[in-house]
Amino acid sequence: MIIGVLREAQTGETRVAATPATVVQLLKLGYEVVVETGAGDASSFADEAYVEAGASIGDPFDADIVLGVNQPAAQQLDQLRQNATLIGILNARLDESVVADLTSRPITALSMDAVPRISRAQSLDVLSSMANIAGYRAVVEAAHVFGRFFTGQVTAAGKVPPAQVLVAGAGVAGLAAIGAAGSMGAVVKATDPRPEVADQVASLGGSYLSVESADVEVSATGYAKEMSDDYNTRAAALYAQTVPDIDIVITTALIPGRPAPTLLTAEMVASMKAGSVIVDMAAGSGGNVEGSVAGQVVETANGVTIIGYTDLAGRLPAQASQLYGTNLVNLLKLMTPEKDGMLVLDFDDVVQRSITVVRDGESTWPPPPVQVSAAPAAAPVEAKEEVVKKERKPLTPTAKLGAVLGAGLLLVLLVAASPAVLQGQLVIFALSIIIGYYVITGVHHALHTPLMSVTNAISGIIVVGALLQIGHDGTLITILAAAAILLASINIFGGFAVTRRMLAMFTRS
Ligand code: NAI
Repeated sequence: MIIGVLREAQTGETRVAATPATVVQLLKLGYEVVVETGAGDASSFADEAYVEAGASIGDPFDADIVLGVNQPAAQQLDQLRQNATLIGILNARLDESVVADLTSRPITALSMDAVPRISRAQSLDVLSSMANIAGYRAVVEAAHVFGRFFTGQVTAAGKVPPAQVLVAGAGVAGLAAIGAAGSMGAVVKATDPRPEVADQVASLGGSYLSVESADVEVSATGYAKEMSDDYNTRAAALYAQTVPDIDIVITTALIPGRPAPTLLTAEMVASMKAGSVIVDMAAGSGGNVEGSVAGQVVETANGVTIIGYTDLAGRLPAQASQLYGTNLVNLLKLMTPEKDGMLVLDFDDVVQRSITVVRDGESTWPPPPVQVSAAPAAAPVEAKEEVVKKERKPLTPTAKLGAVLGAGLLLVLLVAASPAVLQGQLVIFALSIIIGYYVITGVHHALHTPLMSVTNAISGIIVVGALLQIGHDGTLITILAAAAILLASINIFGGFAVTRRMLAMFTRS
């Protein structure tokens, strides 16, 4: 079969559905590829590069499979041949007229934005790959407008505080924004109604601000649901309290199929410092910020810039085209089981079923819902209450004092009853416990594993002690010393192995 690659008709679209690199992969699947002239110009892929990769330049409408980024314009759709398969970001979920228009034609249409969020389909998930780029670009746009450093510095000319960034909505775009802002040196805070994202935020160096509401949920769909009034009121209080100290806000909150929720009101924006920047990534679907305008940059009376670009992914066109093109290659791999250049649409496959809007001229939209298990189901309410009851209460100051005095008394008695040679060592032992307790409890939880893995020093001392004892006359002492050397050695070598593996996780290859 022949694959045609369209030159996008939509004004301002910079992306293309195939790059020279993805053309090579399409050819390996047994297809021929025809690229419309100038299709890759806006993303810096010249016609010659496509030809070098093995494609030909020609009329994409003659092809059996037509790849595009957006829904083609009406006159482009008219040119599709009978039984052609159109694949693109067709927006069927949000725009009913698209479905009606496509159904009136004798074609098959697959909407890449309808890929379900299941692990098997991650390699085709266009919304995620574009949101990832857009989240990064949102930070770059903010940095461009923001008149200061992101990172804090101490220079001879004075101290520069780091920029304070707040990311609202820690989905794909939000997490990319947290990572990008953090790597530029900003202090990043993030909020999201799904509590399961707290660890992801922390792993990217951000701190999670939770909204204390009964309404927060563990999602079973991979997406949040519309939040209750209680949640929204508490979230509004959190934003009102937080944003006056924030330099850059990036909002990404979205519930699929709904207008974006308003997170920042005009009063909150008015409470921010002059020079602050807001990037409203949801501006295209109604906006998270009062006063944002889709596709435009607005400056408020108090000097806050609100960026409402809706083409953030397209602002990195070569990268966006490459990732989108790879998403398409992955779909075509799935639909070309024999790698013989023949497309097979399998309706028993949940991914293929979910993205099919029209099959041979007949509407198959909407697809049946797909349950996505992005996180463990929420524990029943009773179970949660049980957990709360079982949680240990912190000790009162009097109880703490009692415990310390008790432990002190025990130590004094122990020292008094011990032989003189042991007394000094017992005191050192007790002090080590106290110092060790305060050192370990002062370390962040995330660092406990590396900390434990480098407690080799303790094992080293055990080995030295055991070596001194191993030549002892008593057989029992010799056996105990040998066992101590063996166990401590396991800890030393195991500790180094674990530390190595953990460091490898953070090493850029
Ligand atoms: P996502 O579904 O992965 O993330 C959205 C996040 O918003 C979820 O984590 C959800 O829990 C959270 N959320 C929902 N309601 C909220 C509330 N009331 N308060 C705080 N958080 C809330 O979506 P993704 O892929 O990260 O996209 C995010 C947004 O970025 C969408 O609006 C999408 O349309 C937009 N986008 C914009 C682009 C642009 O060029 N401006 C490009 C790509 C995506």
